Amino acid sequence: MGGTIGIIGGNGALGGAIAEGLLASGIVAEGDLWVSSRSGTGPRFSGAEALRVTGDSRALVAACETVILSVPPATAGEISIRAEGHTVISVMAGITLERLKDIAGTERVIRAMSSPAAARRLAYSPYCPGFGATAEDRAEAARVLGAVGLTDAVPDEDQLDRFTAITGPVPGFVAACAAAMKAHAVKAGIAPGVADRAVRQLFHAAGVIMAEGASPEEAVQEMIDYAGTTAAGLTVLKDGPFEAAMDAALEAAYRRAKMIGRG
Ligand SMILES: NC(=O)c1ccc[n+]([C@@H]2O[C@H](COP(=O)([O-])OP(=O)(O)OC[C@H]3O[C@@H](n4cnc5c(N)ncnc54)[C@H](OP(=O)(O)O)[C@@H]3O)[C@@H](O)[C@H]2O)c1
Repeated sequence: MGGTIGIIGGNGALGGAIAEGLLASGIVAEGDLWVSSRSGTGPRFSGAEALRVTGDSRALVAACETVILSVPPATAGEISIRAEGHTVISVMAGITLERLKDIAGTERVIRAMSSPAAARRLAYSPYCPGFGATAEDRAEAARVLGAVGLTDAVPDEDQLDRFTAITGPVPGFVAACAAAMKAHAVKAGIAPGVADRAVRQLFHAAGVIMAEGASPEEAVQEMIDYAGTTAAGLTVLKDGPFEAAMDAALEAAYRRAKMIGRG
């Protein structure tokens, strides 16, 4: 069990999900997890009564060793805290390490990306430490972000903009694949409700299996090598515009992520 953690914007979609996941993980004791917002409201989930809720982000900083920033990029400049002596982790899209130092009033900043899957401890939360972050700050980022899913240190901020596109939205682009498969089933005459159940179950099973089994490329190659019905379809995908379309879609989302926080 670690020390106190505070989430500024902890009443929001992502901040609340991180709070829920952190409580479920057990790395923070009841009463040691704070959330703040301008309205002084907390997130709503079963067990949220264990949180300390405040409308004063400076009081949160005073009480917490580790501070997570999770407010919309447009209001990040209004946070106005002085967090010297604290580990500061931001999960805000597009807010650079350079800006974070000004917003948080400390050099000890770490920029990360996460997703609301944190509530189920299923987020992917890569992070990039600023030059002023200590070894302890880096270890704390790995501990806190690892408690709500998987995490990796990445070498530069640009990769966080990539992950803002790839893993920030959940189910994101995976939902687009599922919707295309469902549309095919409905076009073939399968009842929409049945198609919906079938595709959801497929993606549920695929997610569980891919989390632990063969890599995505190995899984595709195994099915091609098996040379059955799936291979017939995968060959069409490989020779067609699918990979180029996904590449273009993620590139567009990445370019949009690069623009956040600039305006
Ligand atoms: N949601 C996602 O799927 C997702 C995924 C990846 C990254 N993110 C990032 O996570 C951050 C939060 O996104 P979100 O979707 O959780 O937003 P959200 O649902 O709007 O929640 C943000 C909360 O922050 C509070 N807030 C706003 N300005 C504040 C300030 N100056 N000081 C204290 N609290 C403030 C707001 O409550 P009050 O109005 O009461 O202050 C609001 O409830 C964003 O930077 C976003 O880029 C989100």
